Amino acid sequence: MKKFAIILSLLSIMVLGACGSSNAEGEEGSDKKTLVMGTSADYKPYEFIDTKEGQEIVGFDIDIAKHIASEMGYELKIEDMDFNGLIAALNSNKVDFVMAGMTPTEERKEKVQFSDIYYVAKDSLISKKESNINSVEDLKNKTIGVQLGSIQEGRAEDMQKNIEGIKLSQLDQIPQLVQELKSGRIDATIIENTVAKGYLEKNEELTSFIIDSEDEQGSAAAFPKESDIVEEFNKELQEMKESGKMDELINKWFGKGSSE
Ligand code: ARG
Repeated sequence: MKKFAIILSLLSIMVLGACGSSNAEGEEGSDKKTLVMGTSADYKPYEFIDTKEGQEIVGFDIDIAKHIASEMGYELKIEDMDFNGLIAALNSNKVDFVMAGMTPTEERKEKVQFSDIYYVAKDSLISKKESNINSVEDLKNKTIGVQLGSIQEGRAEDMQKNIEGIKLSQLDQIPQLVQELKSGRIDATIIENTVAKGYLEKNEELTSFIIDSEDEQGSAAAFPKESDIVEEFNKELQEMKESGKMDELINKWFGKGSSE
């Protein structure tokens, strides 16, 4: 154990040494302040790792964050983690804000503050064509997979109250849900339609329908309760909406015509 600790500290000295003075914490000779953004990069097209381009996190949220951070005079640094850990990361000040296609629910508002909503989508129920699940009622005695800590988890819990025999399987990441569905370990999953689209295009055997609901929807950025940059952030969001920049990004990431 001790040996391991020594090796670890030697390693970190080497790594630090290699970075020299140019680490990412805003010490690059510029006087730019850094904003650290937390995200869960399992949510294409909002945020995902573009494996063709290496390990870079890209997407709709990332473009918005980059634009606003630069307008506000900050360097942006991105921290990737499981969706379920994002609120805790805000509350422990590990990150300055979160963009993760996160919906501003009343429950979350007790712990963090939100920006204005910048995009609204709907939820889909995805299943295998062969399962013949065409309505919520068909979920009787089925297992539904959802992302841990998401509003979709809450939605599946509501279905569980109304329909007999529903079992839930909560997983950390969206690609795991699709994997479980394909391999038959779950019968259905609830995913936002904009995110589901990519999986449906790639997997012929899957099908979906939109779940109509009056429930809370939409994405907003989240900040610690004591943060004082929300107002400025909202101003920049508004500016993006007015200048057409937001529509441009919506069309870029959700497909042409999505902003109409
Ligand atoms: N909009 C949903 C929510 O707030 C799901 C967001 C999931 N985001 C992600 N990056 N995986 O719960």
